[in-house]
Amino acid sequence: MTSTTRRNFLALAAIALAGSGAAGCSIAEGAGDVLTGSESSETVAPLEKSRTLVAYFSVPETNDPDNMTEDEANSAHVVRGKVLGNTQYVAQIIGERIGAEVFRIETAEDLPLEHGSLEDLALRQQEANARPKLKALVPDLGRYDNIFIGYPIWWYDIPKPVYTFLEEHDLSGKNVILFTTHGGSRLSGTDETITQKLSDSTVVRNAFTISRDDMDNAEAEVGDWLKSLGQ
Ligand SMILES: Cc1cc2nc3c(=O)[nH]c(=O)nc-3n(C[C@H](O)[C@H](O)[C@H](O)COP(=O)(O)O)c2cc1C
Repeated sequence: MTSTTRRNFLALAAIALAGSGAAGCSIAEGAGDVLTGSESSETVAPLEKSRTLVAYFSVPETNDPDNMTEDEANSAHVVRGKVLGNTQYVAQIIGERIGAEVFRIETAEDLPLEHGSLEDLALRQQEANARPKLKALVPDLGRYDNIFIGYPIWWYDIPKPVYTFLEEHDLSGKNVILFTTHGGSRLSGTDETITQKLSDSTVVRNAFTISRDDMDNAEAEVGDWLKSLGQ
């Protein structure tokens, strides 16, 4: 993110808040009862860990924990010397807290790590309403009743590879719980977009969002959010 772009995200977020008056492919092991949330509910029954999946898309812009540029540091969080993307970090926390499996949504084609090139590619994908091919789909999705789906806000929207994910999996009848990371745009209406798109799923209203500037507080914020969901 260039600093100009970052300022724009923040300015637009401030305008949106003022205007609305609102207060505001790998499966890895992460931490009973089937969730019974409905679209009108903000809490859900305790999640059965073996039937819960945390799927996320995330693009840390470097693999090197040292000497990061500002753009690289914006997109990454270092945990015990390992670079994680911001959304990847949140996914990992949720996985550990719930005891759920974690699945990384990856594109078949490697994405550029260089920030400007990544922004350009994302913008081109958005303008073309592209559906980038994914490296892999979730194996045996039928095993899960509850799917957390996490992504960074890209150009005020859901990254296009996540649209591919939503369209290439049959999520009907499943409980969907959303989380995002952002640079000022918060959820940017993407929870509403997904609720409309997944009309045969139960999308829990209480989506989580955290600024990339608050990643040091992510464990506590995710903990509070999971508690507010009834977990
Ligand atoms: C291509 C691109 C577009 C972005 N667009 C937005 C945006 O519209 N609004 C916003 O708040 N942040 C935007 N950001 C910032 C990311 O949402 C933020 O840095 C996020 O935490 C990155 O998550 P990740 O490390 O999991 O990929 C953008 C970042 C990239 C790379």
